[in-house]
This record gives sequence, C-alpha cells and structure tokens, in this order.
Amino acid sequence: MTAPIDLRSDTVTRPSPAMRRAMAEAEVGDDVLDGDPTTRRLERRVAELLGMDEALFFPSGTQANQTGIALATRPGTELLVEANAHLVHYELAGVAALAGVQIRPVTTPDGLLTADLLRGALRPPSPHVPRASAVALENTHNAAGGKVMPAAVLAANVAVAEGAGLPVHLDGARLWNAAAALGVPPARLTPGVASVMVSLSKGLGCPVGSCLAFPRAQRERAWEVRKRLGGGMRQSGILAAAGLYALEHNLPRIADDHANAKLLAERLAKCPAVRPLAPETNIVMIDLVRPGDTAETVIPRLAAAGVLVVPFGTKRLRAVTHLDVTRDDIDRAASLITTTLT
Ligand SMILES: Cc1ncc(COP(=O)(O)O)c(C=O)c1O
Repeated sequence: MTAPIDLRSDTVTRPSPAMRRAMAEAEVGDDVLDGDPTTRRLERRVAELLGMDEALFFPSGTQANQTGIALATRPGTELLVEANAHLVHYELAGVAALAGVQIRPVTTPDGLLTADLLRGALRPPSPHVPRASAVALENTHNAAGGKVMPAAVLAANVAVAEGAGLPVHLDGARLWNAAAALGVPPARLTPGVASVMVSLSKGLGCPVGSCLAFPRAQRERAWEVRKRLGGGMRQSGILAAAGLYALEHNLPRIADDHANAKLLAERLAKCPAVRPLAPETNIVMIDLVRPGDTAETVIPRLAAAGVLVVPFGTKRLRAVTHLDVTRDDIDRAASLITTTLT
C-alpha cells in the first residue's frame, strides 16, 4: 500500500536528511541566558530578507503573531483585521486573552483588504465607541485560498493606517509564497509595517519555527513579550539551523508548489463533481458541486482512496501543495479525486 498523498497543509512536511544533518551539527548556546549563535544567524538572515532591522525566533507563528499584536496595541482598544484572517478564526481569541483587544473584522468580497475598505472601517474618535490601536494584514491569505496582497495594495493600506496613527502588523506566515507569486523579493512586501511574522514550518519544510521582525527600538519589548508567553528557548540553534537550511535550499523552489497547485486545479476542473478555485499560490479550494456531497462525507472516501485534504466549510475542501509532494503525486491525486467522486 503506497503512502497517502497528504495535501492537508504545507505544515505536514518532514525534515529532509540534509536538514536533519544541519540541525545535528548546529553550533548552540543558551539563548535565554547569553545567546545561541545559530539562532542569532537565523534572526539576522530573516531580518535582512524582510528588509527589517531585527528579528526574533519563535516556536510558532501564533506566538509570533500574538507578540506582534501585543507590541502594536493597547488593552481596551480595537484591532482592525480582515474578517476571515487567521487571527480572527484560528488563534483562539488570543488577541482578546493576551493583548486585551477586541477584533474589528473588516468584511471583504474575496479576502483582500484594500485601502478603501480599511478607510471605511475607521471610525472618528468618540467617547462612545472603542478606539482602534492597530491594523493586521495577512499575506498570503489562508482562508481566501492563498490570496496574494500585492505591494501596491499593502502600501495603500499602510498609508491609510499611518494617516490614522495605527501601526500595521503583517501576518506573513506565507509571505514567501506571496513574494514568489509576485516575482519580488520578500522585502518589497514589508515597507511601513511595524512588525511581520514569517513561518519556517510551512512551505519551507522546517519542523518548528517562525520569526517576528520589527524595528530596532522594539527589540527589548519583543523579547519581553516572547519570554512572558513562554517562548524563550535554550539551545534553539538546533531548530534555527533548520531555518537557515530552508532559506538557502527550500525558499528558491517555492514557486514549484504554485505550479503544482495550478496543475491540480486544472486537472480537477475536468471533474464534474467539483469546482476548484484558481489558485494564486499553493492553496487550492475545491467546491463540491453535487447536492449529496459534503466535506464530511467526501473526506473519508478520499482518504480511503489515498488523498488527504481538510474541510473548509460544508461544501468546500482545501488542498495545499508543499515540499513533500511531487508533480507526479499531484497528477495521481487529481486522478484519485476524480475517480472517487464521479
Ligand atoms: C496565515 C497564518 N498565520 C498564522 C499561522 C500560525 O502558525 P503556527 O501554526 O506556526 O502557530 C498559520 C498557520 O497555519 C497561518 O496559516
């Protein structure tokens, strides 16, 4: 029996033998006490790639996001964020519990927060409504099927936020994908942001890790918030070495995942039981068109056939391409989905 083709997420990748070797050989120290040299190197490299002054290594994207939000906001205020952002749905109300802010969701037709929509969500100061203290953006937008926010849209959002005196936190868990899709360096997608989170454990294939990048003046506070959240790690160089390896070896190939996603969508467009949405990056949303099919009934059938996907609503599946699936796997997955559902 061949292993299933796992398209549930780009987080399912396993570290390659070469990545494991880099981890095993990492030079390490106590990063909470007096520093870990490999972690420092990763942080410098990430800051450089993002065009930011500094970066800190975190165990997860969620913790890095929560730190970015804590830096940008004040308790008792509002965070403006696209209504289907990861921060809204998948961080367990962390911004309320940890930063003491409430989310003001901004509804968009397609997940792309634009300057006009953001401007429309701003309210004049009043003693009767909460004040806003920050804006959060997400690029690419997970729930919108890996949708890209182009540099010009980011710049316009930053200008609106700046005009209102609001710092911008960027959830760039998949900023690498956005940059590859646009054919620009990642640093083109960060100008004007107060903080940016990037994941190493998604498209880049690391077992663990994210970074938060920010201006130099924020370093002390970022360190403090991370420590308070339990994110101070000791010989973290073992994990950071995976990040350095991934930035060198896996970042340059991330566009292959986009080509595979496109191939999957093209192949599935011929299947009468589904309607795939055209992917911009590595996420393919697949709508079930037959009245009797639901994600709940279809997913176990697909798993039995050898393809793993996740539900995204009652009539929608999500398939994500990544480092550990080849073009042949995608071909096979498309055939298996087609034969199972028709
Ligand atoms: C857009 C986005 N932000 C943040 C996260 C959180 O990252 P982590 O799972 O490392 O906490 C994810 C994870 O899927 C994500 O997709």
